[in-house]
Amino acid sequence: MTPESTTIRWEQDDTGIVTLVLDDPHQSANTMNQAFKESIAAVAERAEAEKDSIRGIIYTSAKKTFFAGGDLKDMLKAGPEDAQQAFDTGVAIKNSLRRIETLGKPVVAAINGAALGGGYEIALASHHRIALDAPGSKIGLPEVTLGLLPAGGGVTRTVRLMGIADALLKVLLQGTQYAPRRALENGLVHEVVATREEMLARARAFIEANPESRQPWDMPGYKIPGGTPSHPKFAANLPAFPASLRKQLGGAPYPAPRNILAAAVEGSQVDFETALTIEARYFTELVTGQTAKNMIQAFFFDLQAVNSGANRPRGIEPRQVRRVAVLGAGMMGAGIAYACARAGIEVVLKDVSAEAAAGGKGYSEKLCAKAVAKGRTTQEKADALLARITPTAEAADLAGCDAVIEAVFEDPALKHKVFQEIESVVEPDALLCSNTSTLPITVLAEGVERQSDFIGLHFFSPVDRMPLVEIVKGERTGEEALARAFDLVRQINKTPIVVNDSRGFFTSRVIGRFINEGVAMVGEGIEPASVEQAAAQAGYPAKVLSLMDELTLTLPRRIRAESRQAVEEAGGTWTAHPADAVIDRMVDEFGRTGRSGGAGFYEYGEDGRRGRLWPGLREHFTRPGHRIPFEDMQERMLFSEALDTVRLLEEGVLTSVADANIGSLFGIGFPGWTGGVLQYINGYQGGLPGFVTRARELAERYGERFTPPALLVEKAEKGERFTDAR
Ligand code: NAI
Repeated sequence: MTPESTTIRWEQDDTGIVTLVLDDPHQSANTMNQAFKESIAAVAERAEAEKDSIRGIIYTSAKKTFFAGGDLKDMLKAGPEDAQQAFDTGVAIKNSLRRIETLGKPVVAAINGAALGGGYEIALASHHRIALDAPGSKIGLPEVTLGLLPAGGGVTRTVRLMGIADALLKVLLQGTQYAPRRALENGLVHEVVATREEMLARARAFIEANPESRQPWDMPGYKIPGGTPSHPKFAANLPAFPASLRKQLGGAPYPAPRNILAAAVEGSQVDFETALTIEARYFTELVTGQTAKNMIQAFFFDLQAVNSGANRPRGIEPRQVRRVAVLGAGMMGAGIAYACARAGIEVVLKDVSAEAAAGGKGYSEKLCAKAVAKGRTTQEKADALLARITPTAEAADLAGCDAVIEAVFEDPALKHKVFQEIESVVEPDALLCSNTSTLPITVLAEGVERQSDFIGLHFFSPVDRMPLVEIVKGERTGEEALARAFDLVRQINKTPIVVNDSRGFFTSRVIGRFINEGVAMVGEGIEPASVEQAAAQAGYPAKVLSLMDELTLTLPRRIRAESRQAVEEAGGTWTAHPADAVIDRMVDEFGRTGRSGGAGFYEYGEDGRRGRLWPGLREHFTRPGHRIPFEDMQERMLFSEALDTVRLLEEGVLTSVADANIGSLFGIGFPGWTGGVLQYINGYQGGLPGFVTRARELAERYGERFTPPALLVEKAEKGERFTDAR
């Protein structure tokens, strides 16, 4: 190692080829930290000084990943006062990469593992990109998913490499992460190889064959592929971008896509160096703002904490499930069977009849056929997946199962009965899980012998696409069962949050607050269309009234009746919600129960397709001209969920801030720009005190339910935030 470069090793062979080995000795992965900034500057300096003895340069890494990207911990801390420093650091790294890129020698990226963000930007600053087809390796610029833009030249170079349209759509705006072969198909890399040796040999071969190599954009007469916005042909297509962006964001406050679009378009009309500066300015604005902090906190740190098992009981050996019994082959059971089989687990899928069970397997057959047709899997793999699912109506076939996941109708007596049928057939220590979405786990556990092995495993629909599973610990659930449930969820590649038993757990209860708030506004006489608009503009993926229709209006009525009974039996007083009367009228007076009933807040076609909002809403509920501030409409939805989440922390149902944030983002569609339901409070203007003041204002205007809970007020007074002390 040269003394001046601590994170990059300079290895020069006797043919004059220099391999720059990225290898930060203080971290498990290479990142764009201060040490890297100094190293890359030193390397660029040395390359220029020793240019005559250099034939070519290869970037590769000694770590498992090629390069991990920016230092996110630093970014979380960057406030407006750090803008200049963030800007300068970015510019310094970019200048160094640019000096190497334009040295006049061939530069190759030998991408030996994941190259996301900064890693792919180093590759982009190389003339030739060779990726090793390592399992799990991903390539791309996912900055947008953290509220950022790739400011190591990522915008400037992808625009020049593939044209504005492809750069935006394939790489920048969605932050797609490509497996090496897909990266090749989409033009992100030039070659994919099977071994490390082959990768380095190909890199050398490129240098031998292209001694004069330069980047396309450094060649005379270069033009951006597909043209730039100043060309009339291109100008005709340009308006499509802001429009598709609006569609993607639904008007929600995500600054990153807007800044990416601006940096790409503006940068395409100026020279390379100016484009880099434009990119840096748009990045600085993002990194010093609140949304990027929210998104980095949630989609990186919280997600990592949740998936790495911060909530899994310590000291219990990890266990893998080999054979799982799925009881009930309806919508959820079929999806759970597919998710388990995809992860390599043998599945016995049981329903009341052989036909019903086979029908459940049919769902996997459909998904597999689609995946094969789209080239996402091979026929061979699909066949193997399907061979792992055995449909049956016989309890005896469940012998040897080391886990059970029940997904029969939402009826406690039926659930008790199906567990009784199978408890003595499966392995004597099999993990016993219920996918109930509303019934208390503690009560369901009373139906089995081994109550300590009984636990809630709440999946979301559609199971194959929803990443979250809410693990619900009953009063008598043991630590061993909790650890095993956690391991099972990770085994099927989903994200587990852990909550204590309570009616509706965390997710079902909190999403109910959002829906109730939307419905209540209709009852107050506000235009239903503007209620829907407010949800969309707040960033919710589903509009509130259409979501109510999907869930069916009879569901909240049933939950209300059960909750009321439970509260009154415990000697408490039941408080009605203003939404209750609206739902009762919709069902009792107008017979509109939601999408499955063919009529709800919306009209539905014969084929079940959603039509317009039911005009009767205006006739029966709307008070013409009645309006409240649009901001109040949005914040009533956001606050109702956030405040109830704080109450769940108070009640001990939730025990972790990361779980609350991740659960709200991945399970119930809380808007991504907030960083999750508790991070929304942290990041609110004025912090917790600002949030408390605003909650009191909403309470005064719209009802007691917005009164801030004691825990929130106390934290605000102490100057604290919602974080997990780890
Ligand atoms: P579903 O009605 O589609 O399926 C239930 C299945 O259970 C049917 O195929 C039925 O034949 C079968 N079944 C009934 N009695 C049985 C028995 N004795 N043995 C074996 N199978 C039997 O219902 P869905 O939507 O799949 O829901 C199942 C469970 O999952 C419920 O507890 C529900 O609350 C819960 N859940 C539902 C979600 C959803 O979005 N639909 C989300 C999360 C949980």
